Amino acid sequence: MNNGPVARLTRAMYPGSFDPPTNGHLDVIERAAACFGELIVAVVVNPQKRDPMFSLEEREAMLRACVSHLSNVRVENFRGLLAEHVKSRQADVIVKGLRVVSDFESEMSTALMNRALSHVDTFFLMSDQKYSFVSSSMVKEVFFLGGEVAPLVPEPVLRVMSAKRAALHDHSL
Ligand code: PNS
Repeated sequence: MNNGPVARLTRAMYPGSFDPPTNGHLDVIERAAACFGELIVAVVVNPQKRDPMFSLEEREAMLRACVSHLSNVRVENFRGLLAEHVKSRQADVIVKGLRVVSDFESEMSTALMNRALSHVDTFFLMSDQKYSFVSSSMVKEVFFLGGEVAPLVPEPVLRVMSAKRAALHDHSL
C-alpha cells in the first residue's frame, strides 16, 4: 500500500509582531524547528498594533540573535497580507503558539481566514506552561515600570530593552 510520501522537507512560517520577542516565542521557535525541515520566522507590520516599541529592524535583529543556534531557522520581515507572503515563500504550514483558551478564539478565525486565502493550514503548538502568562505587551509594561523581566525574555532582547530604557531616560532628563 502506498500512502504517498511520508517524509519530505516541510517549510513552516511562524509569523508575529514580536514586539519584543519573549521566551515564549523562542520556545515555540525551538519546538517548531524540531518538527519542520525549515522554519521562517516572519516579523510583520501589524496595522492593528500601532506604535510598536521596537522598529521592524530592531525586532528582526533581536530575533536573529536569539535563533543563531538553530541552523534551520531564518528570520525575515514582511508588510501586507500574511497569506500572500506564505504563498510567495511556498511555505507548507503556518505555525502559531497558543497560551490560553482565550487565544484560541481569535486564532481560530485567523487560521480559517489564512487557509481560505492561501490553502495553507495553521499548526498550533501549546505554549509551555511556564510561559502561559508571558506576552510582549505585559513584558513591555512591566519592564518600563521598572520590573524584573530577565526570566521572561532572551538575553539579547533584554540587552536591547535596557538600552532603549536608558535612551528614553536620557531623553526625558
Ligand atoms: O498577534 P501578532 O503577533 O501581531 O500576529 C500577527 C499575524 C500577522 C500573525 C496575525 O495577525 C495574522 O495571522 N493575521 C492574518 C491577517 C493578515 O494577513 N494581516 C496582515 C498582517 S498583520
